[in-house]
Amino acid sequence: MEPLLEIRNVAKSFGNVVSLHDISTTVHAGQVTCVLGDNGAGKSTLIKILSGVHQPDHGQLLIDGNPVTLGTPRAALDAGIATVYQDLAMVPLMAIWRNFFLGSEPTKGWGPFRRFDRKLAKEVTRQELLDMGIDIRDPDQPVGTLSGGERQSVAIARAVHFGARLLILDEPTSALGVKQAGVVLRYIVQARDRGLGVIFITHNPHHAYPVGDRFLLLNRGRSLGDFAKSEIPLAELTRLMAGGAELEQLAHELERGGGAEKVGREMREESQTFN
Ligand SMILES: Nc1ncnc2c1ncn2[C@@H]1O[C@H](COP(=O)(O)OP(=O)(O)OP(=O)(O)O)[C@@H](O)[C@H]1O
Ligand SMILES: [Mg+2]
Repeated sequence: MEPLLEIRNVAKSFGNVVSLHDISTTVHAGQVTCVLGDNGAGKSTLIKILSGVHQPDHGQLLIDGNPVTLGTPRAALDAGIATVYQDLAMVPLMAIWRNFFLGSEPTKGWGPFRRFDRKLAKEVTRQELLDMGIDIRDPDQPVGTLSGGERQSVAIARAVHFGARLLILDEPTSALGVKQAGVVLRYIVQARDRGLGVIFITHNPHHAYPVGDRFLLLNRGRSLGDFAKSEIPLAELTRLMAGGAELEQLAHELERGGGAEKVGREMREESQTFN
């Protein structure tokens, strides 16, 4: 089956900084592709390319097998790509239903916002959230009073409602506790089960593994691999993410440098626990 989205050999530099080098992966409808990487790995750069904020220097994006140019954020939205950023772009003091319809101008596929009266808007908000298993008693409640996990879920429900085919979540669980992260992971699964393709960005292999079908690992702009779930066990994913190989290298360097043998030995021992 044709992937919903294919990222083919994408590269992007900013001046001398190579943010992404030869990155490829796929996202299928009804599946979750996780992008894992440490700080500065290039995760946000990749998302910005997919959401029309940056243009790749090399490579191609294909939707349903057809090459596309996402020249602007609008073009990405029109192609059905919805990005939920960490900061969510929500207004804490505004009611949930207002936030739900915030910024959704009346264009093709994204809801005829202007025709909605308040009553209907509130009802749609309540129903969409209910469909995701969140029972908000009062859509007039300010978004700021919701928990972090619930706020993420409002953003996900909003993207689903406005016709997104591909949902991109930039570290939706990183600021959350265990329980709230679990809540968000459940919504990721629900979006997937509704047939959306999902790109889930995270630092945490334990969040990625249970929900992911495919895993792209980034390290300083380079791919450490693009694996189907059957190709990589959790332990290996964790080892790669923890920088097992890099820690080993650093341990050797420290030892060779003398004076720091102890630190080096300790680091090597630690890195071996990942192996
Ligand atoms: N607009 C820009 N101009 C110059 N350099 C940039 C720009 N955007 C990103 N970079 C650089 O590209 C590299 C990758 O950054 P990016 O924000 O994509 O990483 P990240 O994986 O999202 O990291 P984090 O986990 O910290 O959010 C970094 O070295 C960063 O400094
Ligand atoms: Mg980032």
